[in-house]
Amino acid sequence: MSLRPFALERYFARYEFSTPHLLSSSDCEALTLTELLSHASPADRLVWDNLSLGYTESPGHPVLRAAIAHDYPGLSPNDILTAVPEEAIYLAMRTLLSPGDHVVVTFPGYQSLYEIARSLGCHLHFWQSREEDGQWHFPLADLEALLAHNPTLVVVNFPHNPTGATLSPTEWQSLIDLVSRSGARLFSDEMYRGLEANRKPLPPAATLLPNALSLAGLSKAYGLAGLRLGWLATRDTDALSRLQTYKDYTTICSPAPVEHLALIALHNSEKLRLRALSILDQNRPLLAAFLSRYSHKISGALPAAGPVCFLRYHGPSASAFAEHTASSHGLMLLPSTVYDYGDSHLRLGLGRLSFPDALDRLSAALELQ
Ligand SMILES: Cc1ncc(COP(=O)(O)O)c(C=O)c1O
Repeated sequence: MSLRPFALERYFARYEFSTPHLLSSSDCEALTLTELLSHASPADRLVWDNLSLGYTESPGHPVLRAAIAHDYPGLSPNDILTAVPEEAIYLAMRTLLSPGDHVVVTFPGYQSLYEIARSLGCHLHFWQSREEDGQWHFPLADLEALLAHNPTLVVVNFPHNPTGATLSPTEWQSLIDLVSRSGARLFSDEMYRGLEANRKPLPPAATLLPNALSLAGLSKAYGLAGLRLGWLATRDTDALSRLQTYKDYTTICSPAPVEHLALIALHNSEKLRLRALSILDQNRPLLAAFLSRYSHKISGALPAAGPVCFLRYHGPSASAFAEHTASSHGLMLLPSTVYDYGDSHLRLGLGRLSFPDALDRLSAALELQ
């Protein structure tokens, strides 16, 4: 079976660089190179200035992997493999799944989290998000029922793209217990970890289960999407070595400048995460005011965690409205059609400094309707 086009990425390819105002991005405001380097310690700056542009170590520089492992109590640098985040999903699915396997996966969701499994001939079972009074949640009873399919892999994504939902610590522990009892492996996409409105991230899955894989990276909470640097963390050394073998057929190793800039970012992790959180904090009340004013046209809740939320559009077609705002107002919105999730929702992203201006443009478009 072939891979279907990644609808969201194709949509961004069409609009992201041709539409002046973006209101649906999932990353937080990007740093400039100068800004990031201004945070470098004298020692890190010296390495940057003398960096050799040769090949790097395939699993990631040991110092970089040590800085990453710091965030995963009980894991060592050898439990980390660096990769482009999207590449890491590909490596994991190609390595861990075989045709005919059953896979349970959160839905709607980031397409590669299920599309690669589908292309391999796996059977997909969607753990659906439920919308009640504008709030999104993932009932654990639904997950428990899906585990009856005997999945090889359970794929979850919290904080969740696109709904902005997350689990409570108790629900997260119940999920871990359920998956562990089922005998399935857990793949946990934690790309938005660190962007919780309550400032209380869930412990990474890889620290809770010996064979779970946690995916994370610098694209969202660190404002460094263009570095294309992420990682997989797991205590399953056999799985990690199979992933490593597969990586020899994708990128082999990360670019040296990326590795060193990533290290500078991780050495300033608290500062950079607070920067992203403060942008979200500034934008949240603006979205709350917008929602109380336009609830008859667009309704929903602020994200519980992460920079995106998934709002109900009360007009006939969210995708037609998004086409209209792009062509007539220069405003890019993301309709739920790219998630294969009907035509009644729009994803909004609160992570950019331009959010207030872009939201004003959305208000103007709604006023003219
Ligand atoms: C849930 C999720 N996982 C993985 C990725 C991939 O991250 P990147 O685009 O940095 O490769 C994204 C990107 O939007 C995402 O939303």
